[in-house]
Amino acid sequence: NKRLITLAIETSCDETSCAILSAGRTILANEIYTQIEIHKAFGGVVPEVASRNHLEKISWIIDDSLKTAGIGFEEVDHIAVTYGPGLVGALLVGLSSAKALAYALEIPFVPVNHIEGHIAANYIAHPELEPPFVCLVVSGGHTHLVEVKDYTTFEVIGKTRDDAAGEAFDKVARTLGLGYPGGPLIDQIAKSGNPYAIDFPKAMLDQENLDFSFSGLKSAVLNYINSCKMKKIEINIPDVCASFQEAVVHILCHKAMDAIEQSGHKKMVLAGGVAANTALRETLSIKCNEKGVGFYYPPLALCTDNAAMIGCAGYYNFRAGYLGDMSVNAIPNLRI
Ligand code: KG4
Ligand code: ZN
Repeated sequence: NKRLITLAIETSCDETSCAILSAGRTILANEIYTQIEIHKAFGGVVPEVASRNHLEKISWIIDDSLKTAGIGFEEVDHIAVTYGPGLVGALLVGLSSAKALAYALEIPFVPVNHIEGHIAANYIAHPELEPPFVCLVVSGGHTHLVEVKDYTTFEVIGKTRDDAAGEAFDKVARTLGLGYPGGPLIDQIAKSGNPYAIDFPKAMLDQENLDFSFSGLKSAVLNYINSCKMKKIEINIPDVCASFQEAVVHILCHKAMDAIEQSGHKKMVLAGGVAANTALRETLSIKCNEKGVGFYYPPLALCTDNAAMIGCAGYYNFRAGYLGDMSVNAIPNLRI
């Protein structure tokens, strides 16, 4: 009964990462090289620059993770890799490396959906966690409510109709001149602001569906900032950050609890980069406690992009027989 060893690769956006896992849920290595400093100069991720940097780093990261894990190539049982969604050029770097490794080592090759990877981060963080549950996936590109029926069966029960929550954080931060990525900066600054200072709109709350809309909120914040500038009123940045964050968190928690009620599940799981948000974790934790619902979220390092979460999702795909061949291509808009 040998414990399977997964080598996983993630290059969908601006993190180059390689991880080694044992039996799907134990991390032996999770090396992450982030390009954030490079993209900061541009105020956001530049796709071409991201691909080039992945290419420069990928081989080193794979070597480093094997060294950290104390494992040789011959001990790896299968290769897992993100094939979408993400930036096509960035995805292709990881995908090609993974195919080359699987081909050379003559071992199975397992394509992984990045969003399913974010969900799987929770299996690593919580050894006792098992499906079914409701998962709120909130990242820079996605805002989804997902019913996770088993390790490889998912149903999207709600999603954003326009901007993702993380995208709204990034755009508001940019307009305030705070820098990139906006989420962690707003999270920090909001701590010294009043969340009820400005009443920003909260869209779609009275609707029964589980969909989100953040573009109206984003525009309202941008209009508020511009009108202050025009009227030469000093902007209280902590209050704007806190009030904007309060609106996002309120909407996310409201719909997440609706999803619990409608689906009847007793476990709520948080995933994706925005799952790192302090206010979101606190508020959702309180709401789940009130309803007797179990609440799970990953530690900060597993919230944002990393290969360990891809390896975990890949391990379950492998066990379910979802393997790929050399014809698998990168799918930038891959759905869950
Ligand atoms: O999951 P992720 O690393 O990449 C995608 O798959 O999109 O998420 C990145 C997003 C960015 O929009 C970033 O601003 C946001 O997650 N983020 C946060 C926090 N940390 C990262 N948003 C709010 N609060 C945070 N603490
Ligand atoms: Zn991500």
